[in-house]
Amino acid sequence: MDDIISLNNIDYSYYGKIPALKNVNLSVKKGEMFSIIGLNGSGKSTLLHIINGLIFPDSGEVLFDGNPVTEKSLHDKNSRMQLRQRMSYIFQNPDIQLFCPTVLDELLFGPLQLSIPFETAQERAEQTLSYLGIGFLKDRPVYMLSGGEKKKVAIASVLTMNPDILLIDEPLSSLDPKTQTFFIELLLELNHAGKTIIFTTHHLDLIDHLQPRVAVLSEEHTIRKTGTASEILGDEEFLISVNLIHEHTHKHGNEEHKHYHTHYVFHKH
Ligand SMILES: Nc1ncnc2c1ncn2[C@@H]1O[C@H](COP(=O)(O)OP(=O)(O)O)[C@@H](O)[C@H]1O
Ligand SMILES: [Mg+2]
Repeated sequence: MDDIISLNNIDYSYYGKIPALKNVNLSVKKGEMFSIIGLNGSGKSTLLHIINGLIFPDSGEVLFDGNPVTEKSLHDKNSRMQLRQRMSYIFQNPDIQLFCPTVLDELLFGPLQLSIPFETAQERAEQTLSYLGIGFLKDRPVYMLSGGEKKKVAIASVLTMNPDILLIDEPLSSLDPKTQTFFIELLLELNHAGKTIIFTTHHLDLIDHLQPRVAVLSEEHTIRKTGTASEILGDEEFLISVNLIHEHTHKHGNEEHKHYHTHYVFHKH
């Protein structure tokens, strides 16, 4: 009963006609690292939106710490504050998330919205800037940052709220390999520090690195399988059936090899 999030029989379609999720059931435990994997368009981002109470399912039930999350429940200021205080969403595209004049303003915005005293907010901002190694960006306007820097600022602006639960959509998207490694380490550290982390990806090697529990969304928008990282990665037949890996033939000199690989990740032969 230490589920922090449960989704029961969730259906969602955009404008009542574009299906995005069908009969989705899942539960995430406190402190767990949990991943939703699937191809583009399978419904991963929609699922995170629903968990975060940004949109509401056509049918089914969302529970946060045992309490229903509905349009009505979020009209109540206390329930809304509980959710917003404890759960933060890092969007795939940091441009959607960042809107303040400077990096420092960006980091102060969340805590001040949550009525945290200014001095405390400032302390948190300083600590977070130094933790992420971006103190030198403090006074920069956000539009003068690189993609990787923007992503760091987006993460920093969420960490200053000190949420228990982090929802992260495609954590590695548009990052160079060095910044990707940085984020992988950061996610592990945050999880070791007790945070519940729910992220989406189509990178199977990220699953291999982080070893989360995994739910696989199919192109039909249903959860086809839930299991440990090794249960999912070890089931080649299943991964082929949901198009997450495919058979691939290539030549080494004159010798022909056949093996499986993912669609997305550059791989060595
Ligand atoms: N704002 C939107 N309006 C209409 N359809 C959308 C919208 N966002 C997503 N969809 C559709 O919903 C389905 C699931 O999308 P999404 O949750 O973004 O998938 P993923 O994140 O796995 O790529 C797709 O068919 C997509 O085209
Ligand atoms: Mg998406």
